[in-house]
Amino acid sequence: MIDVHSHVLPGLDDGSQSSEESRQLLEESARQGVTHIAATPHFYAAQESFDRFLEKREKALTKVLEKREGWAETPKLFVGAEVYYFPGMGKADRLKELCYKDTDLILLEMPFAQWDDQVVRDVENIIQKQKLNVILAHIERYYEFQKKKAFWDEVFDMPVIPQMNTGAFLGKRKRLCIKLMKKYGPTLLGSDCHNPIHRAPNLAAGREVIEKKFGQGMLERIDEMSQRILTGREGIGIY
Ligand SMILES: [Fe+2]
Repeated sequence: MIDVHSHVLPGLDDGSQSSEESRQLLEESARQGVTHIAATPHFYAAQESFDRFLEKREKALTKVLEKREGWAETPKLFVGAEVYYFPGMGKADRLKELCYKDTDLILLEMPFAQWDDQVVRDVENIIQKQKLNVILAHIERYYEFQKKKAFWDEVFDMPVIPQMNTGAFLGKRKRLCIKLMKKYGPTLLGSDCHNPIHRAPNLAAGREVIEKKFGQGMLERIDEMSQRILTGREGIGIY
């Protein structure tokens, strides 16, 4: 089981606040059967420089790798960033450095507002001009803002890779998640876990809902896709 989206590195964002919280999140993930977990701290271009972000992420990763020797079983880690959309990002320099490490895959957090032509053109430029592959973070969270579905459809007509949060299959967005999975097929899955209490690891429970609704075959397709796109990719740094 691969968790492609989480906030398990300490002290970087509104996710884990300490190595103790990171320990709890990682041990609980392993207990649920997660073999690989991506640490994808938030990146807000308006608030932080690339260099500062990358430096802090590296330090937090090193800290966790050192500490985990004394912990119970934890998943293997790989790192990326949850990059919040900013106008003009299609032409921004250095986006490649925010991709999952050693890949051309970027986890993009889209605006929580009606998407428009600029958003569509930026996504298009990231794909066509910057030659990056775009994973759209938690697609179920933007749907309600898209009163004009034409922009949503334009984004999804591009070769984007959808990701859904397993927690959404357990809450009020369950029906929407099922609808989106019916429409778009297998998606990448993330727990988007932030802390052990309110936003805890939940990959196993979310997958149970998917299995009940779509059958074991869907989980197999999801796992195959996650492995092909991420952890099975040659050169990706897995720790
Ligand atoms: Fe997130």
